[in-house]
Amino acid sequence: MIEGTILLVGCGKMGGALLDGWFKRGLNPVDAIVVEPGGRGAVSPCTSHRALTCLPTVKDVPRDFRPDVVLYAVKPQIADDVVPAYASFAAQRPVFLSVIAGKTTGYFQKHLGANAAVVRAMPNTPASIGKGASVLYAAATVSEVQRRVCEVLMSAVGTVEWIADESWMDAVTAVSGSGPAYVFLLAECLRDAGIEAGLPADLAARLATATVAGAGALLEQGDLPAEKLRQNVTSPNGTTAAALDVLMAADGFKPLLARAVAAATKRSKELAG
Ligand SMILES: NC(=O)c1ccc[n+]([C@@H]2O[C@H](COP(=O)([O-])OP(=O)(O)OC[C@H]3O[C@@H](n4cnc5c(N)ncnc54)[C@H](OP(=O)(O)O)[C@@H]3O)[C@@H](O)[C@H]2O)c1
Repeated sequence: MIEGTILLVGCGKMGGALLDGWFKRGLNPVDAIVVEPGGRGAVSPCTSHRALTCLPTVKDVPRDFRPDVVLYAVKPQIADDVVPAYASFAAQRPVFLSVIAGKTTGYFQKHLGANAAVVRAMPNTPASIGKGASVLYAAATVSEVQRRVCEVLMSAVGTVEWIADESWMDAVTAVSGSGPAYVFLLAECLRDAGIEAGLPADLAARLATATVAGAGALLEQGDLPAEKLRQNVTSPNGTTAAALDVLMAADGFKPLLARAVAAATKRSKELAG
């Protein structure tokens, strides 16, 4: 159940997914205000929730609106223009929750005040269907109640994990933030390998998609770890074993993915400056 008042800043793909998730979990539309340049017309969930207020700028937010949460969901490129415009809310002690990639809690406290309560979140794209994985980090200024509020808001689009060290956020970005792209690439490669092995392209594409989705669902059930699931489908000298001999060779999948995650971690650090 979503309780408290929310000021959502930016309602594109991620902001919209969150808003959808909150409505599914009982958000009362009168408890939220959305700031989005396109106003109501640009915010799809608003069309089915007429009581939700959508405003084009922060200046339009009524002076008596006291948000418990200010959630930033705008692109990193415009953060310098958008974030400071909400500093006047800091006096009311809301929690500022950000999903903006690469922007640290220190960045927000520089713009909103050193005592501002800031939680930084890194969600990923499956959030759009409620299957995201979000990792949260809270500055020391955030209360227990505010942590719980942020957890409830982010869990509306998937699982939530907390980290105690903000520097892990770069590796988190490289594993779960960018991770869906690696899985999509796996589906592409499996499709193309199927075509190379003689299958019609459309059949290979359907099989690759169903296999990635089915294996993911099996893994998500959580009854068995990935290693055990893999071993269970691998008979000695069988077809899977023949493929795994290639994938698990010294220059196989494991070192390749480790290099990919290391490259993404490094890039995340560079982008954070
Ligand atoms: N999408 C994801 O899966 C994902 C995953 C992890 C993190 N994130 C983070 O989430 C943030 C948003 O990403 P997104 O994919 O949702 O981007 P998006 O679809 O472009 O959404 C951003 C929204 O912010 C609006 N906006 C622009 N200027 C604004 C302002 N001054 N005040 C309020 N809203 C404003 C944009 O409106 P206009 O289109 O009219 O400019 C747009 O609707 C990014 O920082 C990204 O790093 C996203």
